[in-house]
Amino acid sequence: MVNLHTQISTLLLLLPSTLVNAWSPTDSYAPGEVDCPSYLDDSQYDSDTFKGLTRAANSISDAEKDWISNRDEVTIENLKWFLSVSNMTDFDTTAYLQNVTDNNATYIPRIGISFSGGGYRAMLTAAGELSGLDNRTEGCSEHGLPILQAASYISGLSGGSWFLSTLVFNNWTSVQDIVDQNGQDDAIWDLEHSILTPGEKPVLKYH
Ligand SMILES: *[C@@H]1O[C@H](CO)[C@@H](O)[C@H](O)[C@H]1NC(C)=O
Ligand SMILES: *[C@@H]1O[C@H](CO)[C@@H](O)[C@H](O)[C@H]1NC(C)=O
Ligand SMILES: *[C@@H]1O[C@H](CO)[C@@H](O)[C@H](O)[C@H]1NC(C)=O
Ligand SMILES: *[C@@H]1O[C@H](CO)[C@@H](O)[C@H](O)[C@H]1NC(C)=O
Ligand SMILES: *[C@@H]1O[C@H](CO)[C@@H](O)[C@H](O)[C@H]1NC(C)=O
Repeated sequence: MVNLHTQISTLLLLLPSTLVNAWSPTDSYAPGEVDCPSYLDDSQYDSDTFKGLTRAANSISDAEKDWISNRDEVTIENLKWFLSVSNMTDFDTTAYLQNVTDNNATYIPRIGISFSGGGYRAMLTAAGELSGLDNRTEGCSEHGLPILQAASYISGLSGGSWFLSTLVFNNWTSVQDIVDQNGQDDAIWDLEHSILTPGEKPVLKYH
């Protein structure tokens, strides 16, 4: 069983050591002197001469371009299905999708889903939202909601990322599966104990 606390602690342990190795001028947490970056504008980003502190972010990487182009083939089919189960009467979904896929890949809708922060409440709200949008949830398609399978990006901040980390650490399992495990010894989540008065078996710990 991998519980949320273990997941978060693992993330917290892994991240700083990676960052220190990559960026510290002293190979440690001690501060050291560095030259100011000579980065001036986006055209100079990432050349051998100029290195900036921030990524110019004026395009996506080649790897992401390849990935998104492959992902389009999956999402377009799922989007078609999503639009068809939403029973729209005044919009020709087939003609719309035919047009965007035939004409120019730039017009293909790329959907991103994000979950806000807000601690424990945000974590559970995110779980409820994602479950509503996930075709693997019982009843989702009857209510015309299954857009998760048509999405290409997903992100979460703080409490929202606690929730997403559960999915990442569990091979993108569904909320339906997590809920179905309630009460089992190997359940992914144990939400029996209050976050404020957790007793001996806390749901989450802050360090
Ligand atoms: C097809 O897509 C283009 C680009 O979005 C748009 O300008 C045009 O109106 C669309 N045509 C139809 C028939 O939907
Ligand atoms: C597709 O549309 C974009 C945005 O309008 C345009 O920059 C690009 O040249 C078009 N590509 C093709 C192959 O028509
Ligand atoms: C979504 O779920 C329904 C019902 O479980 C299933 O019939 C359908 O094939 C699924 N569609 C996709 C795109 O996964
Ligand atoms: C769409 O219509 C089908 C068949 O009538 C129905 O089962 C389904 O619940 C409807 N979906 C929505 C989102 O109204
Ligand atoms: C993760 O899930 C996918 C499909 O949902 C499956 O094909 C794959 O084998 C799983 N990977 C692991 C490590 O369980």
